[in-house]
Amino acid sequence: MLNPASSTTAKYEFYDNGDVASVSSQINQQYRVTAGGSLSGSIRVPGDKSISHRSIMLGALAEGTTEVTGFLEGEDALATLAAFRAMGVDIEGPDKGKVTIHGVGMHGLKAPEHDLYVGNSGTSIRLLSGLLAGQSFDVTMTGDQSLSGRPMRRVTDPLALMGANIESHDGKPPLTIHGVTDLKAIDYPLPMASAQVKSCLLLAGMYAQGKTSVTEPAPTRDHTERMLTGMGYPVEVNGNQISIVGGGTLKATQIDVPADISSATFFMVGASIAPGSDITLLHVGINPTRIGVINILRLMGADISLANERITGGEPVADIRVRYAPLKGINIPEEQVPLAIDEFPALFIAAACAEGETLLTGAEELRVKESDRIQVMADGLQALGVDAKPTADGIRITGGKIGAGEVHSHSDHRIAMSFAMAALRAEGTIVIHDTANVATSFPGFVELAASCGLHIELNHD
Ligand code: S3P
Repeated sequence: MLNPASSTTAKYEFYDNGDVASVSSQINQQYRVTAGGSLSGSIRVPGDKSISHRSIMLGALAEGTTEVTGFLEGEDALATLAAFRAMGVDIEGPDKGKVTIHGVGMHGLKAPEHDLYVGNSGTSIRLLSGLLAGQSFDVTMTGDQSLSGRPMRRVTDPLALMGANIESHDGKPPLTIHGVTDLKAIDYPLPMASAQVKSCLLLAGMYAQGKTSVTEPAPTRDHTERMLTGMGYPVEVNGNQISIVGGGTLKATQIDVPADISSATFFMVGASIAPGSDITLLHVGINPTRIGVINILRLMGADISLANERITGGEPVADIRVRYAPLKGINIPEEQVPLAIDEFPALFIAAACAEGETLLTGAEELRVKESDRIQVMADGLQALGVDAKPTADGIRITGGKIGAGEVHSHSDHRIAMSFAMAALRAEGTIVIHDTANVATSFPGFVELAASCGLHIELNHD
């Protein structure tokens, strides 16, 4: 039974058994953002999506009770939470970011009574594929239209080498995982820089006989490694090779989830492009594998300073102050690409406001995110009169004027929020269609952005 529970910030529905389903795709929402304004104030954006997912996954498998604070109450992380409830884990919350997970131990998960619906969430389906491959039961994971078109062979191929038995639909979801209890360790060179694939294999490696190693072509976010270590499960890191030995255990802990640098990015870009802006983003995760956006914006001339740098729950955090500064176009260094992989839609808006040309290369992964972020951003920028030329693995953007116009987010949360910030420098109103999926990662975006000075209004299409 579904009990609709909607707010202006997140759109999801709860089943009687505590399950939750995303309904963003059923809602036609648009943003209407009036041109001009600047961003100011001191704000805390919602919790880190990647860390929130992992807190549920590892907390569920731990021995004892894990207390999480700062948890992201967005649809993606809630989909992971619902999946573990459906597998018999007692989870309290979320209540104002607080979640209490009563861990069931490494072998305590139970077969769910129904398919696990993970909505828009690539992190849920890819990490869970690894975690579930070595269970003693079968499970099917389904997703929304966008997720159902995303590539899964990147996880099913290496898992098959470990002896997993997974059915997909031509390499795409739904995925049916037939649990096996004799996974073998592998030594796997990752074909692409992907934290999701790396994490999937490390999670499967906990259930495999022997030592599983993954070698990354470039560093990617290391939240899984940090959280495993923090919960007492040894992880060996040798340069770009990460290894885990099967058969270990996890100990419950306290996890303080920092604010998500990917969500802070919209405000960092907004403040950088809007004259008069001065904004401080509080308690933001500044893990070195996530700070590509700061590095790239600084190369473009942005005025960004960090204060109160500290470590919380094994993750570095800081308050980030951003003041308006004129930006210039750059060639984005390719080594920064995996460190800023979710931030490019917003960075393209910065490029459109910069003097000269910005060139991105080596970013073909952007074509298989929640949307084809190269094409969708190029289409939107062109609709606003910006000179943006997509290439196979990136884009070339010449800074200049941003006109008024209408753009489509293609149900991609980060596209919607990026174009909302573009209005700060536009010549007229920007209307963004299909924005409900912002609830996957940033509940309360409209209210928070409006409170800082963005002239944004939420309408129904
Ligand atoms: C994530 C890894 C990245 C990122 C995604 C979250 C994670 O995906 O784009 O939003 O939590 O591990 P890839 O590993 O596919 O690059």
